[in-house]
Amino acid sequence: MAVKAAITGVEASLPEYILGNEELSRMIDTSDDWIMSRIGIKERRILKGQDTGISTIASDAVNKLLKKTNTSPAEIDLVICATVTPDMMVPATANIISDVCGIKNAFSFDLNAGCSGFLYALTTGAKYVESGFSKKAIIIGADKMSAIIDYTDRATCCLFGDGAGAVLLEPVTDDTGIIDSILRSDGSGHQYLYQKAGGSLRPASHQTVDNHEHFVYQDGQVVFKRAVVCMADITIEIMNKHNMLPRDLAWFVPHQANMRIINATARRMGISRNQIMINIEKYGNTTAATLPLCLWEWEPKLKKGDNIILATFGAGFTWGAIYLKWAYNSNNLH
Ligand code: UT7
Repeated sequence: MAVKAAITGVEASLPEYILGNEELSRMIDTSDDWIMSRIGIKERRILKGQDTGISTIASDAVNKLLKKTNTSPAEIDLVICATVTPDMMVPATANIISDVCGIKNAFSFDLNAGCSGFLYALTTGAKYVESGFSKKAIIIGADKMSAIIDYTDRATCCLFGDGAGAVLLEPVTDDTGIIDSILRSDGSGHQYLYQKAGGSLRPASHQTVDNHEHFVYQDGQVVFKRAVVCMADITIEIMNKHNMLPRDLAWFVPHQANMRIINATARRMGISRNQIMINIEKYGNTTAATLPLCLWEWEPKLKKGDNIILATFGAGFTWGAIYLKWAYNSNNLH
């Protein structure tokens, strides 16, 4: 049987500080009612403290993953960190995480695909594993969105939170593992969700700081409309490609950007609420971390052979879907 890549462990790390809707309502003109009805978020985690970058919690997730899977750092040969909030522009945060975790025999790099980062990174890692180039890969989805959020802009500051998740990928030869992925992008969408300054086009200056150009800007309505169509279309496409009916699916794992987008996608798929992993209420949109955070939280319920579809939409625009069969019985792991 052909070699496939399977997730053989998942871990996560969340900052302790909880920013609830009540506190946000004191900072800007908003309300718990508006945020719950329009987005579905009650609270999000914020990484506070000096000298704490995304590598702080991403390294914590990786260390816990190594321990839980009984893996020595020396065995890891590949680390990919999906993030839009690296510790710094250079070097890659994956290099820093590897150093902190004692991973010395791996090549490591970052991948930026907005909110689709983890899906892109999981697909990339799977190709290395399937080809035999990598035997044990760690794929991380992690973002410290609070570093690039303008907490005076009510259009964005209610949406995002901080978090990190990581999975171990290993080769399998049974019928489990990553079966298929469909990835897409459309760069004409770059102007609707972006951070204007800080890159080579508009390097940091007094002017870019004064103009709030180091924060995320989003045209919410345009992104919303595209997200609803693209997430649903690509999920239906992967289901049809594999002749999958709604009842064949154990779990749908959608990007956690907005409850209304999740509900619209689920309606198109014809699945019910108890087939969907949803934690947006607790963590908000953690960008590259939403999918591994869901897998981590639901891991105790997952069974070997479960059909799972992951789907995302994000900045770029980027979107995609992965179909996998869960590779192990996860009860009693947490
Ligand atoms: O993860 C990457 C992908 N991102 C997404 O998928 C996000 C997609 N977009 C969205 O989820 C939604 O567009 C938002 C949640 C961002 C906004 O929801 P919306 O239903 O599209 O609201 P809107 O922007 O059309 O604004 C409706 C009203 C406006 O007031 P008026 O002009 O009707 O008087 C806004 O000024 O709501 C107002 N508003 C707010 N009110 C209270 C906007 N933000 C807030 C707020 N609190 N935080």
